[in-house]
Amino acid sequence: MKILVTGGLGFIGSHTVVELQNEGFEVVVVDNLSNSSINVLEGIEAITGKRPIFEEFDLRDKPKVQDFFQKHDDIAGVIHFAASKAVGESVEEPLLYYENNLGVLVYVLQELKKKGDASFIFSSSCTVYGQADEMPITEAAPVKPAESPYGNTKQVGEEIIRDTCKVNPELKAISLRYFNPIGAHPSGKIGELPIGVPQNLVPFITQTGVGLREQLSVFGDDYPTEDGTCVRDYIHVVDLAKAHVAALQRLLENKNEGNYEVFNLGTGTGSSVLEVIQSFERVSGEKLNYKIVGRRPGDVIQAYADTKKANEILGWKAKSSLDDAMKSAWEWEKIVRS
Ligand SMILES: NC(=O)c1ccc[n+]([C@@H]2O[C@H](COP(=O)([O-])OP(=O)(O)OC[C@H]3O[C@@H](n4cnc5c(N)ncnc54)[C@H](O)[C@@H]3O)[C@@H](O)[C@H]2O)c1
Repeated sequence: MKILVTGGLGFIGSHTVVELQNEGFEVVVVDNLSNSSINVLEGIEAITGKRPIFEEFDLRDKPKVQDFFQKHDDIAGVIHFAASKAVGESVEEPLLYYENNLGVLVYVLQELKKKGDASFIFSSSCTVYGQADEMPITEAAPVKPAESPYGNTKQVGEEIIRDTCKVNPELKAISLRYFNPIGAHPSGKIGELPIGVPQNLVPFITQTGVGLREQLSVFGDDYPTEDGTCVRDYIHVVDLAKAHVAALQRLLENKNEGNYEVFNLGTGTGSSVLEVIQSFERVSGEKLNYKIVGRRPGDVIQAYADTKKANEILGWKAKSSLDDAMKSAWEWEKIVRS
C-alpha cells in the first residue's frame, strides 16, 4: 500500500518512514527541506535497503499538492508531519505558522476528501493540554488556551480534522498527541538535526556535551516538583514512529471507532530536567556544564501521559527507557560532529 509521508525527511518523519518500509509499505515522501537534509534519504536507504519515492516541493503550493494527488492516485493513507515547530519563532511570525501548519493541512484534506476513502494521521502535541489539572494526562483532559501560535495550530488543526471527518464519513483520521520525542535510530544513520540553537532540552544537552554549546541553562528549580525542575514525558523517537504504523494500520483495517480518534503518545513516566541531565551523565560518562537560571515564561510545571488508551486500543507500548533514548541521542550527536 502506498502511503504519503509529508515532512518525511524530518526528525520524526524519517524514523516513521523506516518503520513503514520495514512493515512493507510503499512510501512517498514530500518535503521542502526547510528543516531537513536530502542526505536523510541515504540514511533511510542504509537502514531499510530501500529508498522511498521522494518529491521535493513546498506543500503551501496548492496547485502542486493537487498535481501530486493526481499523479499518485493510489495513495491509501497520509501521515502528516510537515509543519513549522519553533514555539518562539511562532510568536514572532504567527502568519507563517498559520499558513504552514493550517493552510497545508487544509490542502491535503481537500485532496483526501476528493478521494473519499482515505486514512489520515496528524502530528499533534501534548501542548494542547497546557498545564493539565491532573497527572497523568488522559485524552479526556480539557484542551487549554494555547500559549503560542504554534500550540494554537495544533489545537485548530485537530478541530479542522474533526469538523472535516464529521461531514465526510469515508475519511478516517487520528490525531496523535506526542509528549517529548527524543533520541535517534540505533543504527546511527538518522536522528534529530536541529538547525541553529536547539529549542528542546535533549539536543541542547548533547550539543553542550560535545562542546558546541558552552552551558545548558535550566529554567527554574523552584517549581512544585520533587527536585524543583519541570517534568516531562520523554519518548524514544523509534517507539513514537512505531505508534504511527499501529495507528495507520488501525485505520486501514477499519478497526477505528468513529472516523476521528485521538491518542496520547508517551511513556507514562515523568522525568525532571535534572533527571534528564543525570541520565546524560550516566550514559555518556561526561559531566554536563549547566546552571540554574530563572523560570522561562510559558513553561508548564509538569506533563506526562496516561498511555492506557494507546496501549490498549493501538496495542502499542513505548519500550525504551530514558537512558536508552539518551544513549542513542548521544551516539548520534557524536556521529554528526565527527
Ligand atoms: N519534535 C517534537 O518535539 C514534536 C512534538 C510534538 C509535535 N511535533 C510535530 O510533529 C511533526 C514533526 O516534527 P519533527 O520534530 O519531525 O519536525 P521537523 O522539522 O524535523 O520535520 C518537519 C519536516 O517537514 C518539512 N516541512 C515543513 N514545512 C513544509 C512544507 N510547507 N512543505 C514541505 N515540507 C515541509 C521540513 O523540511 C521537515 O523535514 C510536526 O508537525 C511537529 O509540530 C513535534
